[in-house]
Amino acid sequence: EEEEKISVTFVDKDGDETHIKVPVGMSMLEAAHENDIELEGPLSRLGTLHLRITRLGRACEGSLACSTCHVILMDMEYYNKLDDPTDEENDMLDLAFGLTETSRLGCQVIATPELDGLRLALPSATRNFAVDGFKPKPH
Ligand code: FES
Repeated sequence: EEEEKISVTFVDKDGDETHIKVPVGMSMLEAAHENDIELEGPLSRLGTLHLRITRLGRACEGSLACSTCHVILMDMEYYNKLDDPTDEENDMLDLAFGLTETSRLGCQVIATPELDGLRLALPSATRNFAVDGFKPKPH
């Protein structure tokens, strides 16, 4: 039987889009790594280290011990489809670079059928181009 997949678009700092298919049940962090999309751009040293650890399979993933998987949902409609972040996720998000009203941690966003068409921006993108609805969140 065929594995169900949804369409997800990642938008980088230059506005370039990468379209991928993500199996239902997979986190956006895993999906990004499987498709060589670096979520950790702005935190180069820490990010590279984190990516290596992740590739070795010893990620913080799921344990909410970092914020390098920060992604921004480009459409409020999709943001509202997600369960509310836990207190632990909010604590980590507070440490994230470029926090917005629709920020989430990529390891906590799990593909579900209703997220088909999801568009995610990397935090570095918000410095370079305007996206509808982006509001920096006051710390
Ligand atoms: Fe560390 Fe998401 S991978 S919080």
